[in-house]
Amino acid sequence: MAYIELDCPASVKKQLAKVFEVSLKATVPDEPKVVPLVSPCVAKAGVKISDYQCNNAMGLFAKIKGKQTGFKGPPAVGKAIVDNLPESEMIESCSVAGPGFVNIVLSKKWMAQRLERLLIDGIDKWAPRLPVKVVMVDFSSPNIAKEMHVGHLRSTIIGDTIARMLEFSCVESLIRRNHLGDWGTQFGMLIAHLFDLYPNPDDVNETAIGDLQAFYKASKVRFDNEPEFKLRAQQSVVRLQSGEEKYRKAWERICDVSKAEFEKVYKRLRVRLEAMGESCFNDLIPEVLEKLDKLGLVEENDGARVIFVEGVNIPIIAVKRDGGYNYSSTDLASLWYRLNVEKVEWNIYITDVGQWQHFDMLFKAYRRAGWLPKDENEFPKCTHIGFGLVLGEDGKRFRTRSSETVRLVDLLDEAKNRSKAALLERDAVKDWPEEEIEKTAEAIGYGAVKYADLKNNRLTNYTFNFDQMLNDKGNTAVYLQYAHARICSIMRKSGKDIEEIKRNGNIVLEHEDERALGLHLIQFPEVFEESLSNLLPNVLCEYLYNLTEIFTKKFYTNCQVVGSPEETSRLLLCEATLTVMRKCFDLLGIVPVHRI
Ligand code: ARG
Repeated sequence: MAYIELDCPASVKKQLAKVFEVSLKATVPDEPKVVPLVSPCVAKAGVKISDYQCNNAMGLFAKIKGKQTGFKGPPAVGKAIVDNLPESEMIESCSVAGPGFVNIVLSKKWMAQRLERLLIDGIDKWAPRLPVKVVMVDFSSPNIAKEMHVGHLRSTIIGDTIARMLEFSCVESLIRRNHLGDWGTQFGMLIAHLFDLYPNPDDVNETAIGDLQAFYKASKVRFDNEPEFKLRAQQSVVRLQSGEEKYRKAWERICDVSKAEFEKVYKRLRVRLEAMGESCFNDLIPEVLEKLDKLGLVEENDGARVIFVEGVNIPIIAVKRDGGYNYSSTDLASLWYRLNVEKVEWNIYITDVGQWQHFDMLFKAYRRAGWLPKDENEFPKCTHIGFGLVLGEDGKRFRTRSSETVRLVDLLDEAKNRSKAALLERDAVKDWPEEEIEKTAEAIGYGAVKYADLKNNRLTNYTFNFDQMLNDKGNTAVYLQYAHARICSIMRKSGKDIEEIKRNGNIVLEHEDERALGLHLIQFPEVFEESLSNLLPNVLCEYLYNLTEIFTKKFYTNCQVVGSPEETSRLLLCEATLTVMRKCFDLLGIVPVHRI
């Protein structure tokens, strides 16, 4: 089941379905609305019998059998479907095969025109529309002073791509929310430890705290071992929460240092986020809990205040036994704010699958309160998008040799440095300006990290491996970047003014490999639709990889471009390929390189 239905007028599949809908009505006029089953044809042993198929005949025959319709079997229904097709410039021919499949061959002329329009109108015309205006993607969301780990990196990468996909689909207001973990009892020990080291919070700068993770660990050790310190830590929480200036300031300094570290990651990845941390909702919690209480949802349980939800035997702890709030209390309040103040219609949370139950219970509590529609598919709605673990080559949770956890900035820098080293081995790069080498190494290195993550179904665990992701062969971003740069070089070599040939040239899809490339290109809208409606970026990655393979192994191998009689048409096909490739790169947050 898809998460959302999109309106996608540029989808070839949907356009064909419309044509077949007319024919189905004429074929079985007495049947109530028959949904046309049109899908792209899948290649068997590398061969495709047609471009699309309509698979209604079999099911339809089973339904109308014995109703005096005169059809002898499914193939006869298939034939009638073909005979009843209205005139359509999309279709070149149709035939019935096997038990009644209708094979559809698209018109080459129509396909070429669609590509010519793409070049003139731009790819934004191919974007689908969403049925909602305000969408929020809650992603990245690391915790202050705790580690920003590879799980947060996955959330950042997947979240950014989903946000980009929504932006492409013209959502009126897309909120990229960083729900920072900037509140909670851990601040008590951090502040108490900080005051022991720096009695004046103004003296606290980045170098003073230095490595925040080490700072966190040191205070934790004291908290666990020094009763006197523990007491002071607990008092610090109270003083912070009551808004005492000195404590507030110390908290701010700690947050600033952490945020500066997160920013380094976001800057490298070119990810934009709008922070509204847990602390922003602290004051709202009592109010929201009171509303829930009035609705009869909150009950007393072993000293805590809890909310039970349908089908789960453990409750949400809304207020802890000691009267304090927790992660759930904050989400109960922040969701209220999103729905009522920010008027978010679709709220997408991106975290590891381990938090599945937390969100399931949160949404169920809201449904119980009548604050979300009973039907999960109705808006406003909430969706939790889970992802699997990042594993090291040993198959265990990813860690580096030197430390228990991985500093994300170091990880990204290593990807870049390795790409730079590989780049410098190439002769062609010798006379490049330093800046271009840097930029290219960044685009390749960071792009490789992103793509290695996104190409997997997000629910699976994936193994982090630099050698694999930076390989220039196989399904890697580096391979895709090389292909992109190669097409750019073909365009440069031709010496033609592409704007001029766009205006005056035509695309002709005579050669079978030209046609295969053209078909794949015009399928972008329907693949994008599938990828977005299921929130699965890997579908888009697979499309991009196949596009690159078709271009490189079929078209470019068998169709000479520069200097051939078909040069103009083929250059236009190259340009269309670049347009679609660049859109895919853009959606995946990868910067394309123009020469390597
Ligand atoms: N800070 C949380 C973590 O590191 C993720 C927050 C996700 N967003 C939310 N609204 N709960 O696991």
